[in-house]
Amino acid sequence: MSQDNGSAEAKKRIAFLIREIKAADAFYYQEDAPVMTDAAYDALRQELIALEAEFPHLITKDSPTQSVGAKPSGKFGKITHTVSMLSLDNAFTDEDVADFCARVKRFLSLDDAAPMAFTAEPKIDGLSAALRYENGKLVTGATRGDGKVGEDVTANLSTVDNIPKMLSGSGWPDVLEVRGEVYIDHADFETMNAAQIKAGKDAYKNPRNAAAGSLRQIDPSITATRPLKFFAYTWGEISAPIAATQMEAVARFAQWGFETNPQMKLHNGPAEMIAHYHEIEEKRAGLGYDIDGVVYKVNDLALQDRLGFVSRAPRWAIAHKFPAEKAITTLEAIDVQVGRTGALTPVARLTPITVGGVVVSNATLHNEDEINRLKVRAGDTVEIQRAGDVIPQVLRVIGDVEGRAEDYQLPTNCPICGADAVRDTDEKTGRIDVVRRCTNGLSCPAQAIEGLRHFVSRRAFDIDGLGAKQIELFYAKGWVKEPADIFKLDYDVISKLEGFGETSAANLASAIDARREIDFARALYALGIRHIGQGNADLIAKHYLSWAKMQTALRAAKTHIGEDWADLISVDGMGEAAAGSLVDFFNNPQNEAMIDNLIAQVKVIDAKAPSSDSPVSGKTVVFTGKLEKFSRDEAKAKAQSLGAKVSGSVSAKTDILIAGPGAGSKLKKATELGVKTMTEDEWLAFIG
Ligand code: IVH
Repeated sequence: MSQDNGSAEAKKRIAFLIREIKAADAFYYQEDAPVMTDAAYDALRQELIALEAEFPHLITKDSPTQSVGAKPSGKFGKITHTVSMLSLDNAFTDEDVADFCARVKRFLSLDDAAPMAFTAEPKIDGLSAALRYENGKLVTGATRGDGKVGEDVTANLSTVDNIPKMLSGSGWPDVLEVRGEVYIDHADFETMNAAQIKAGKDAYKNPRNAAAGSLRQIDPSITATRPLKFFAYTWGEISAPIAATQMEAVARFAQWGFETNPQMKLHNGPAEMIAHYHEIEEKRAGLGYDIDGVVYKVNDLALQDRLGFVSRAPRWAIAHKFPAEKAITTLEAIDVQVGRTGALTPVARLTPITVGGVVVSNATLHNEDEINRLKVRAGDTVEIQRAGDVIPQVLRVIGDVEGRAEDYQLPTNCPICGADAVRDTDEKTGRIDVVRRCTNGLSCPAQAIEGLRHFVSRRAFDIDGLGAKQIELFYAKGWVKEPADIFKLDYDVISKLEGFGETSAANLASAIDARREIDFARALYALGIRHIGQGNADLIAKHYLSWAKMQTALRAAKTHIGEDWADLISVDGMGEAAAGSLVDFFNNPQNEAMIDNLIAQVKVIDAKAPSSDSPVSGKTVVFTGKLEKFSRDEAKAKAQSLGAKVSGSVSAKTDILIAGPGAGSKLKKATELGVKTMTEDEWLAFIG
């Protein structure tokens, strides 16, 4: 292709990308109604940046890469949840439900045949809210936010008709935080959208987006005109117990004036629960509001308490999701996107189609093996599916694929920076990785930009006013190449940029300054290390407590052998892949420099051991032999909740070995090393 032809094609494609991005922005920012997934949106922007880099003369003033509108955010105050707002693990099949029941019993050291009651109720497709009552009076209302800190929407929630401003009945605790789902029912949604259209505004895409948009109005008098409703189903902080079972607690909510879901029932095991699930599935269309599954919960609250939580979800509950919604459309093209870890991901560009109330125009194809399994090509008619918030997927090609050669290959050079893109071989298994990755690390603009966007994202440094657009612009200008640079920005220069002014530059400065002190787990998660999500970052922070200690230990574990390595992989809940990825990341010279630069700019606050007043806080304990009162999992979870570190092997670092009958080599080693040993009963007495 001659340069001229390439340029003409690029010009067309750039115009197309600008149109798509602007349309998506409008929906996202003004209507709380995203028309595509974040990943698909990111792919469009990345492609535009790459094309503009290749053909700089085609950059126009109206390109979304050239202007920065500060995103509307921080409009509500923040409320820290005294009890975290958790999410739920998912079950998709009957077998998953049976496994859940068995897992619960195993954890409690109960026989699989032991009777146990579970509640089942619809999973409402709205947004969760926490309502705090003091002496019966509604004092605050918050959104879930990231589960730890939500937005203060008290004034807006106060306008919702079926949320009591004063509790009725009697017997509520002084402090009572009722949690549940804010939603809009189907009939109200139709009426409300008709009014939107009449007023010349765009219709909301589905009731959930309408509910979110309505609740997050800056002016509560607008919220008051919206038909929001609330179902109460759980609770946060309470100053005194409210019930002995889930069923009773919800019945009390109803007595105190809340609407609770009439479909909630009590069951005695998986067969009944699954039958109820199918019943609700049949009623689904006629319920009058959107639901996306059924939630099962252990009924006995004392057992819920013993079961506790893993990372962000309770062990005592699970969401049984309805099957994904499917649709048929045309796959127009296969594009390639480069992610934070350098992974090249093929993205299917689709003729836009509505699936379950959302317009889908992109779907993931995962990797080249998946494309070859599907034998899919541009121009094919394909079946796609969308499940909840998950990125839509291509399921199959409709029509004949026989005789198609399996020859699709991702580019062997990164489409953004041109470096080699390879599929690594796993040293241990000898298997070739399914993912092809750009080998250029942070020198690849796509990886650097994605890494920076992750760094400032909500669950990481959470810097208001520093979104994708600003990161791209600052990167392109050469101001922000790595995280540390964010803390060295020149606000005088920024205030003169188009789309910025002195106020937004000053706002950005204070948002960035507010993050010069940062929690250990957030800082670690922000680095975007493969396999180190929020859950693992939390585990690592609680294990090492100080950043400096972690760094020293990770350097000492460089070779993946020795005491420090053993100590790291003994962290309960961390796999070896995550441990390896963490150690390798911290021992890579390019990363070492990046981290040192960052640490020169920010102060990482030490993590707290979960409970410092327990006698085992900070101690390393090992369980061995048969435990008689608790399952191994419950004993571990209890020790961890008291601030102990539970390890799988005995070493000089072990403080206590709890040995049940049948203990062998671990007990022997502990005795040799002079480690304190206890029986299960002695341990229980010790922790009180
Ligand atoms: S219980 C600790 N019950 O689903 C468990 N959640 O995927 C707290 N949700 O954030 C949740 N209907 O917003 C529970 N009947 C129900 C629910 C429900 C909808 C939402 C809730 C939660 C999300 C988790």
